[in-house]
Amino acid sequence: MKKIDDDFILWLKFANPGWLDAGNVWCIDHAVKNMPDALPMIEIGSFCGLSTNVITHFCRINGRDNTLFCADKWLFEGAEAGGPIGESPFSHEQYRDFVMGAFKRNVSFFCKDRLPHPVMALSDEFFDLWRAGTRLEDVFGNQAVLGGPVGFAYVDGSHKPEQCRKDFENVHEFLVPGGYVLFDDSSEKSPFGLYPLMREIEGRDDYEVVIENPNFLFRKTR
Ligand SMILES: C[S@@+](CC[C@H](N)C(=O)[O-])C[C@H]1O[C@@H](n2cnc3c(N)ncnc32)[C@H](O)[C@@H]1O
Repeated sequence: MKKIDDDFILWLKFANPGWLDAGNVWCIDHAVKNMPDALPMIEIGSFCGLSTNVITHFCRINGRDNTLFCADKWLFEGAEAGGPIGESPFSHEQYRDFVMGAFKRNVSFFCKDRLPHPVMALSDEFFDLWRAGTRLEDVFGNQAVLGGPVGFAYVDGSHKPEQCRKDFENVHEFLVPGGYVLFDDSSEKSPFGLYPLMREIEGRDDYEVVIENPNFLFRKTR
């Protein structure tokens, strides 16, 4: 696996909870270094903001000023029934509020020089807004205008294969040739079942696998 030693990422991970595969760090660095200039980036699934902060960090140190948009509604699988979390005094709703608060705190601190535009939307809803060129107020209360071609997408929302396929189709609609898409938890060994979709994308003539690290980073070729 290709990895990067980066002091900031080490310290960020101590303070910012989340899921960050070491191989994804290399992939994010590679994608932001090589993606087309100026085009927006999209992150699907932000949780407490760890990958948001990692993407922003590599943009910062690589001198890229592409704007990052995030899609998350902070509705967690298994929380639909509501009620308390196990034998605790905390409800799923309180947990969700806490995680959203953590996202805002982590991202407003670690991205203070270049705040992303987090949009409270599931990925399908987000792409409908993107398609319509919607102007809206983001989670930080800042104005954002959605839409247009995209240079890089990080897909880390629902890990259900059918939703991941939809996320890919939506990303594909806007990703420019030379743009990148990275799928978390997509390795052959991952339990989520995304691997067949990865092999399918690999078989297309408009994408190439940059690396299986062990998750899949693709570059759109045309
Ligand atoms: C694995 S976590 C993301 C981890 C995050 N990228 C990090 O660095 O820690 C998955 C997130 O995706 C969100 N999510 C689930 N389904 C989604 C969907 N269809 N669209 C957007 N976000 C979704 C969840 O609310 C959750 O915050």
